[in-house]
Amino acid sequence: MSSFVEFRKVSVVRDDRKILDNLSINIDCEENVAIIGPNGSGKSTFIKLIIGEIYPSYTGHDTVFRIFERTSWKIHDLRSMLGVVSSELQHCFHNELNGLEVVLSGFFSSFGIFANHVVRKNMLKKAESTIDFLEVSSLKYKKIETMSSGEIKRFLIARALVNNPKVLVLDEPSNSLDIASSVKLHKTIRKILASGTKILLVTHLVSDIIPEINRFIFLKSGKIFADGKRKIFFTSDKLSLLFGVKIALNENSNLCNIAIA
Ligand SMILES: Nc1ncnc2c1ncn2[C@@H]1O[C@H](COP(=O)(O)OP(=O)(O)OP(=O)(O)O)[C@@H](O)[C@H]1O
Ligand SMILES: [Mg+2]
Repeated sequence: MSSFVEFRKVSVVRDDRKILDNLSINIDCEENVAIIGPNGSGKSTFIKLIIGEIYPSYTGHDTVFRIFERTSWKIHDLRSMLGVVSSELQHCFHNELNGLEVVLSGFFSSFGIFANHVVRKNMLKKAESTIDFLEVSSLKYKKIETMSSGEIKRFLIARALVNNPKVLVLDEPSNSLDIASSVKLHKTIRKILASGTKILLVTHLVSDIIPEINRFIFLKSGKIFADGKRKIFFTSDKLSLLFGVKIALNENSNLCNIAIA
């Protein structure tokens, strides 16, 4: 299997407004891609389409909407191909759950461990080794209500990884993290990439762009503003055009200075 996303003429309408407007895009399973765009440009809506949370608002004979080469998926099956960590995800869990329970819930695509869930030994083993990989073993019995944002994020990523997904989707991973926690998270994402999982990173923060990202899709007002390789698009000029402010990017370190144009 080589195709991850295949969209042609895909639109999403809410309140009589096209919040995604006629998108045509292909993403291969082997790519590491960043979706970048200003607030409200449609990034999270695009992700919701990919993870099967919403569907295109209308389909014509020339519309194509395929994820991993299929037009429809049972959500549970799709979840084993795709690990997802969104900024809203942590609010879906009861605060009384501990880190290990959050990670185990990934096997059931649920937001907790319930009476009908049978946690097998191999699941427990996989959850524990993934928690270890994310370097939060000492916190696995801590309730999530007592964890910092950075700690919770690591358990949510571990939850997304327990099914060995082909692609990990991260929507605004640095939200609510301080600079040090963001840098630590970037290291972790690079470790995940080194283990073979591909990434679809959604962000409005240029500082989130790790070196392994080799393709950029710029979204603006629900449309594809630009799409292409790092060398051509991850530049001060292109980012300034996208965000409408002057951005000076140090292309070696990803550090950027921003000035109002
Ligand atoms: N269910 C909905 N009903 C009405 N409008 C919606 C709905 N969902 C999203 N929108 C609107 O669609 C636009 C795109 O929203 P989306 O959340 O996809 O943007 P985003 O690029 O992820 O923004 P951010 O960077 O702030 O996360 C916004 O103007 C938002 O208000
Ligand atoms: Mg968003």
